[in-house]
Amino acid sequence: MTESYYVQGQDRSRKVRQLFDAIANRYDLINDLQSFGLHRFWKNELIRMSKIRAGENALDLCTGTGDIAIKIAARGAEVTGCDFSEPMLAKARLRCSNINWIAGDALNLSLPDNSFDVVSSGYGLRNLADFRKGLDEMLRVLKPKGRLLILEFGKPRNLVWRKMYFAYLRFFVPVLGAIFCGDPSAYRYILESLNQYPGQDAIHDLLLNLNCRNVSVKNFLGGVMSINYAEKP
Ligand SMILES: C[S@@+](CC[C@H](N)C(=O)[O-])C[C@H]1O[C@@H](n2cnc3c(N)ncnc32)[C@H](O)[C@@H]1O
Repeated sequence: MTESYYVQGQDRSRKVRQLFDAIANRYDLINDLQSFGLHRFWKNELIRMSKIRAGENALDLCTGTGDIAIKIAARGAEVTGCDFSEPMLAKARLRCSNINWIAGDALNLSLPDNSFDVVSSGYGLRNLADFRKGLDEMLRVLKPKGRLLILEFGKPRNLVWRKMYFAYLRFFVPVLGAIFCGDPSAYRYILESLNQYPGQDAIHDLLLNLNCRNVSVKNFLGGVMSINYAEKP
């Protein structure tokens, strides 16, 4: 069995970056296969919920190959897409040239306070070495009343459904990683990181504790996928 990409402590970020550097070429293909194309629908839903419009600006964190940033830019907003994996960003740059693609760490952004109308992140928060610090950074760069949207793998409340879904992540998704990347552990990582992530309900409560307004969760497929929404006070 290949070495796990999930490690705790100081090495967490380095291993995550190593993972995405390694799978950048196959990332979009496997995303489509493992979600049966549904990630496109969930990302469109995030865009709809953001109510982003022309004249506003947005930051898409952990932008990867840029799916969400590109969809936001299509609404006429000015978009910055940030990621720390250069190979993932290289893919994004090839897809769209009118986005400000920047290399950076979501836990330590070199961006000013109160500067974006919308901050989004698709499948990013779970990957951060410290998700609380990640939320703090997202809220720091949001303007007051700015909208925060986090799309992530969820934790269904129904325990039978959760077990079935986790079995799918444990047994089926790594097979895709083995076939298309030659590396099952890159996709075993999804469940390993999800086990360490508190899930959509806990993130909802955390956003309430951070005094955010209009905090809500939108669940898909019984909580398999979720979008956390909040507005900065
Ligand atoms: C699962 S991909 C998501 C890509 C894209 N947002 C999407 O929805 O398809 C996670 C991305 O987060 C990036 N990432 C993880 N930790 C990060 C960090 N601390 N700072 C910046 N980017 C990070 C990875 O490099 C990777 O491109």
